[in-house]
Amino acid sequence: MIRVCPSILNVERAILSETIASIESSADLLHLDVMDNVFVPNQTFTFAQSEKIIKETSLPVDAHLMISDPDDQAFKYAQAGAASVTFHLEASANPLKTIEAIKEHGARVGIALKPDTGFEKLAPLLEFIDMALIMTVEPGFGGQSFMQTMMGKVEEARKEIDALDFKDIWLQVDGGISLETILIARAAGADTFVAGNAVFKADNPITAIDLLRRTAATY
Ligand code: DX5
Ligand code: ZN
Repeated sequence: MIRVCPSILNVERAILSETIASIESSADLLHLDVMDNVFVPNQTFTFAQSEKIIKETSLPVDAHLMISDPDDQAFKYAQAGAASVTFHLEASANPLKTIEAIKEHGARVGIALKPDTGFEKLAPLLEFIDMALIMTVEPGFGGQSFMQTMMGKVEEARKEIDALDFKDIWLQVDGGISLETILIARAAGADTFVAGNAVFKADNPITAIDLLRRTAATY
């Protein structure tokens, strides 16, 4: 199963609703990047704006929290109706508690790793989560170049996930995904792909999503 999750980070806010509506027929999940200007040097959607997006779209929302206090905040996104809530391991003092708080509200749980964080930090938590997110750029901004050096980490994650075959754990990559890099990430074992610029800078976002999915499927 291959999933393409368009990231609306760089979509012009004035046309956000129409833009989201326009990809509802082809995206698998809507990737919502939440940044607080503390965990990363950028600020995006407030909680109220996130809530509105989650309520308005027919797509399942994949919330990616780049915030410094996920242990206090993450459950709110699940409560608001996000289908999946991902927090950064680097920002969490009590990941097990946060995992439970998200699950309690019926969302899938993801844990994200920045490029400098090794997979061994996440490995002991893998059996408790539904998705591992390996960042392929430094979190904070769209439009950066894909870090191919992260593929070792993706391969490692794939191996560990396959060993836990009683659970449906997704393996997501985020940052610099294009028609070229999606194949590289797919080959390393990713099955869930975030794409910002590759979708929304394309002439036709719907065609771009389908092409990304079909390209990944050729591997
Ligand atoms: C970066 C965000 C990404 C970003 C991806 O911190 O987490 O989701 O929007 O954008 P592209 O695909 O353009 O790299
Ligand atoms: Zn993201």
